[in-house]
Amino acid sequence: MKDRLIITGGNPLQGKVRISGAKNAGLVLMAASILAAGETILDNVPHIQDVDVMIELLNDLGVHTQWNDDKSLSICPTSGPIKKETSYELSKRLRASNLLLGSMLGQVSETRISMPGGCDIGSRPMDLHLKGLQAMGVEIDIEHGYIYARAKKAKGARVYLDFPSVGATENIMMMAAKTPGITIIENAAKEPEIVDLANFLNSMGAKIRGTGTDLIKIEGVEELNPVRYAIIPDRIEAGTYMVAASITAGELLVENIIPTHLYPIIAKLQETGTYVEETDQGILVRGSKTIKHVDIKTLPYPGYPTDMQSPMMALLALSDGSSMVVENVFENRFQIVDELNRMGANIKVEGHTAIINGVKNLCGACVKATDLRAGAALVIAALGAQGTTEIENAYHIFRGYEDIAVKLSQLGARVEIS
Ligand code: UD1
Repeated sequence: MKDRLIITGGNPLQGKVRISGAKNAGLVLMAASILAAGETILDNVPHIQDVDVMIELLNDLGVHTQWNDDKSLSICPTSGPIKKETSYELSKRLRASNLLLGSMLGQVSETRISMPGGCDIGSRPMDLHLKGLQAMGVEIDIEHGYIYARAKKAKGARVYLDFPSVGATENIMMMAAKTPGITIIENAAKEPEIVDLANFLNSMGAKIRGTGTDLIKIEGVEELNPVRYAIIPDRIEAGTYMVAASITAGELLVENIIPTHLYPIIAKLQETGTYVEETDQGILVRGSKTIKHVDIKTLPYPGYPTDMQSPMMALLALSDGSSMVVENVFENRFQIVDELNRMGANIKVEGHTAIINGVKNLCGACVKATDLRAGAALVIAALGAQGTTEIENAYHIFRGYEDIAVKLSQLGARVEIS
């Protein structure tokens, strides 16, 4: 399998880039599609490896899927009940497989979901997902690496999330959409992908109000109907190309985006001296020769997104001073630092804080992607570096970025997959 990205830096990115459908919205909407009896069609689905694995997981459960054209995916549960257990082999390849818990419980009253373990960006517990489902009357046991859930007498409940977890909010919403009674999620996640899930479920006949705020109210309905629905654009992919334009002092029009979803990213990019303008066609980004140092704290939406922390760190490595980046969402998101330092960056980590002392140049090196967004950061660093960078384990990048080598080449970058 071709698993290396080879990038020669120095070319300013120029032109237009079209942003694909959002990975994180696509995955949860695919899981939610099984809540309706019949064929749901999702449009704007990105061709990325995470989507392929979710398709395999659905097929393994007995759900029929079919690509209708390039971006349109049909999902249709069979007329009989779906399988009650997700495959361990497939689940370990996709953490978002845990989103099948809420949607499967809306279909069958008993399910076994392979328990996600720790991962490269930190421990990813599911206590908040389970707390929410238990409040609704779901009996949960953890057995041999699986979450065994029985929802025979489930009913709506009030759930307070200790942290506004995206996945927990989504699992509870999917389960509650078809559970009798009213469920209220307090301190819910407010990410645009949560709003997209609610819009999707509501178009199927669900009764969900308040998404985008920290209090979501869900009135359970008996049935949901299949629909055709287009997934929102990927704000993190958009942000990644915007930072890439900035580091190469290029000029890029980022098309097919929802500007409001990008405001936290735009605000920080502007602080670095990057010119950003919202136009009718999209967002225009023009990089500056001097990158100003800025401080960043990651937070749940509408704070600065943790998924844009590593990409921004690559840019700040070339800034004119010292920047402080505080990671408040995942504890292990600084593995990228060693790889960036191999390229000549000067970054030190103390606990949840990274201090980035800007350097004049980055230079090409052999580096390794340790997770999806760390991989994106290495792509950005490589585009802004002198010489050639070989990024190993590029499969992490292909998990979440559709046609990245093609898109970058069209913008003038020198990129190869090997
Ligand atoms: C989702 C996104 C991921 C993004 C993250 C935060 C998907 C498929 N992935 O991940 O790209 O980086 O949101 O925006 O949508 N936590 C608990 N207990 C739980 C659940 C979470 O302690 O039961 C903690 C996690 O360890 C982490 C924090 O909450 O520290 C945020 O996690 P969460 O919002 O759940 O992220 P994901 O849904 O896994």
